[in-house]
Amino acid sequence: MRRCESGAEKAGVDIQRAETRQRHRSAAVESELRRQICNVGRSMYRRGLVVACEGNLSVRIDPERILVTPTAVCKGHLAPQDLLVTDLNGIVKRGAGRPSSEILMHLLFYRLRPDVQAICHAHPPTATAFAVAGRALDEAVLPEVIVNLGTIPLAPYGTPGTWELCESLEPLVATHDAILLQNHGVVTCGGDLAAAYQRLETVERFAQILLTAQFLGGPHVLSGLNVQKLIAARSFYGVSRAGDSSELRITSESLAGGNIGSFSRRSSNAGLAKGAAKESHSLPFNG
Ligand code: 13P
Repeated sequence: MRRCESGAEKAGVDIQRAETRQRHRSAAVESELRRQICNVGRSMYRRGLVVACEGNLSVRIDPERILVTPTAVCKGHLAPQDLLVTDLNGIVKRGAGRPSSEILMHLLFYRLRPDVQAICHAHPPTATAFAVAGRALDEAVLPEVIVNLGTIPLAPYGTPGTWELCESLEPLVATHDAILLQNHGVVTCGGDLAAAYQRLETVERFAQILLTAQFLGGPHVLSGLNVQKLIAARSFYGVSRAGDSSELRITSESLAGGNIGSFSRRSSNAGLAKGAAKESHSLPFNG
């Protein structure tokens, strides 16, 4: 004969069922995140943003744990079971082998940016060439980049995998979603892995275009007013970055006034200034 459940027993069973459902949901989320990391690793490798064992990826699983790529393996050939789960101190909770040697850099972003859910680090050849040449990507040139990223600053060199690198990044992390690492590569972050990865692609594309423009006489640099208009359009494009025209150090006005730091500019001032002069003639806003 079927025994009637007491109220307390029923409540206990309900809680158990809810916990089981929650465990299944978390397992499904984690397996989807594992799949995403493998796909992005493949894509980075195929597009030449990394070669050999370069680069690393991570995502937040929940407030206490991240999923990260293992060290010293090709990120183009990852399988979901290769990834490691660590806590926010980098202690491995699940998975074999060692996590990325750059885990400190990933944890720095997660600690300083509650909005960040994913990190991509790679060595895209042209953007890395800018980083090697000591040049930030801070010219106001492409609307897409101004809207989505603002300035892409250059963090001074720090030994990869150490606190030295984190110290050089720390002042930039709160206000930038993409950063060049001097003599090293690029790191990007996002509200999910797709956003972080798209930013990585955008940085490399911007660097390629800027380099090509140098060969064609130098880029046409936008005015501060045009930068302001693009920043004002961020909400229209669903971009939540805060900021103002001072976000981009190099506008046509700063070039015309010679008000540019020597660090990010090397030999291209002449080409850029030519572009600035062109714009000041062609735009009605410049008086
Ligand atoms: P890991 O394989 O340890 O993640 O390192 C790759 C890399 O790109 C270091 O900068």
